[in-house]
Amino acid sequence: MTPDAIDPNAVAPAVANLETIVSLSKRRGFIFPSSEIYGGINAVWDYGPLGVELKNNVKRAWWRAMVQDRDDIVGLDAGILMHPQVWVTSGHVGSFSDPLVECSTCHRRFRLDELPGTEDLSQTDLRDESITARLGLKCPFDETLLSAPRRFNLMFTSHMGPVEDDGNVVYFRPETAQGSYVNFKNVQQSSRKKIPFGIAQIGKSFRNEISPGNFVFRMREFEQMEMQYFVRPESAADAFEMWLPKRRAWYEAYGVTPSRLRFREHASDELAHYAKKAIDVEYRFPFGWKELEGIHNRGDFDLGNHQRASGENLEYFDQASGEHFIPWIVETAAGADRAAFTFLIDSYREEEVRGETRVVLGLHPDLAPYKVAVLPLLKKRPEIVELCHRLLGDLKRDIMAVYDDTAAIGKLYRRQDEIGTPWCVTVDVDSLEDGAVTIRDRDSMTQERVPVEGVKRLILDRMAAIRP
Ligand code: GAP
Repeated sequence: MTPDAIDPNAVAPAVANLETIVSLSKRRGFIFPSSEIYGGINAVWDYGPLGVELKNNVKRAWWRAMVQDRDDIVGLDAGILMHPQVWVTSGHVGSFSDPLVECSTCHRRFRLDELPGTEDLSQTDLRDESITARLGLKCPFDETLLSAPRRFNLMFTSHMGPVEDDGNVVYFRPETAQGSYVNFKNVQQSSRKKIPFGIAQIGKSFRNEISPGNFVFRMREFEQMEMQYFVRPESAADAFEMWLPKRRAWYEAYGVTPSRLRFREHASDELAHYAKKAIDVEYRFPFGWKELEGIHNRGDFDLGNHQRASGENLEYFDQASGEHFIPWIVETAAGADRAAFTFLIDSYREEEVRGETRVVLGLHPDLAPYKVAVLPLLKKRPEIVELCHRLLGDLKRDIMAVYDDTAAIGKLYRRQDEIGTPWCVTVDVDSLEDGAVTIRDRDSMTQERVPVEGVKRLILDRMAAIRP
């Protein structure tokens, strides 16, 4: 499948400059550089008070779609550290690598396929030792001809126990998927699932990326949301086709602009060592079309190899037909950070309102860090503040709500717009008389007057009405 018939240059990114999102994230408390007071650590990022809410909401939305709403998928939370043989059997120790080139003058290292002029190279070219000389690829910093490429394994290692030697090496998992494969029998038997069924997992993964970057797009520590769907071998192709539109629709249901999404199929020499077929859901980031999620037909590679290496029988017994077979696996592999990043970018807009620029994160209410902000029109009136706190306490029992009285009302609205809060509730002097408050809608900026005791119900109903 070629990329959807969209001229790549015809689709503009939601924000022209990535720095707009990086600075908003820092200023408003979505994402900070890790260990910043020590100068930071490359490719690790920390989620601040709003970022952790956004990312938790993204994970919750994925879990709802992949586990809660389905009868055929169950959850799992496997360990990050696993028996080291898992990673030998999975092929990661032997094959999970990227092409690395080095400058002999400044000793900087680069991922070959990230260098300018390598965009059209095939995976075969990237493994060709003569490629740098043939193309005259030079160090971007000092123009020295770069070394021949060598394969660089992306797995982080450590040692288990008090002695550090080769015998007790452990790997930080580079994908959550293997936890689902080695638990296939445990999950299938304990949950009594019949094929086709899936195992979903959300959790941290680690890759010693050669050239991380573009903010949280490529990190060395990140979170994945992966689902492994176990099927009969002859159903794998259909299951693969079934998941493609479902996964794309999930991003659209939570607000990603459809024209900024496309599918791209991997060429045969680009396929990961485990994949028979792979299609990426790509998003038009400010730095180009890039992978958001991978959908893979992994065949019987994983369970077949684990059965051979462990000596455990990982076959499935189909009672109806009396057959024993190794299930094939169709995987949907998404990134929680990459998805949160995408929702952040795609929801960003700037509007002219009465001669001023209004910055809005038009996040879907399910993803917004706060659903509602409670604001006093006059913070000097103790009765108004007291009513605000009573309402806030009631709202907080069910949804994330926040109180703010640190500026005039216009500025308070702008602050909430910039962090994506869908509704603001203002308590004013009249509220003390008529028991009503004003609800302002983030997107339309319309205001309506409602009884204070009806606020929570109204917001919960609106959220339920637009929930995918
Ligand atoms: N189990 C298959 C697998 O791991 P992948 O395409 O290598 O497939 C799946 O990774 C998803 O994980 C990617 O589409 C991306 O969203 C996320 N991901 C992978 N590497 C990442 C990194 N270095 N930083 C952030 N997210 C990453």
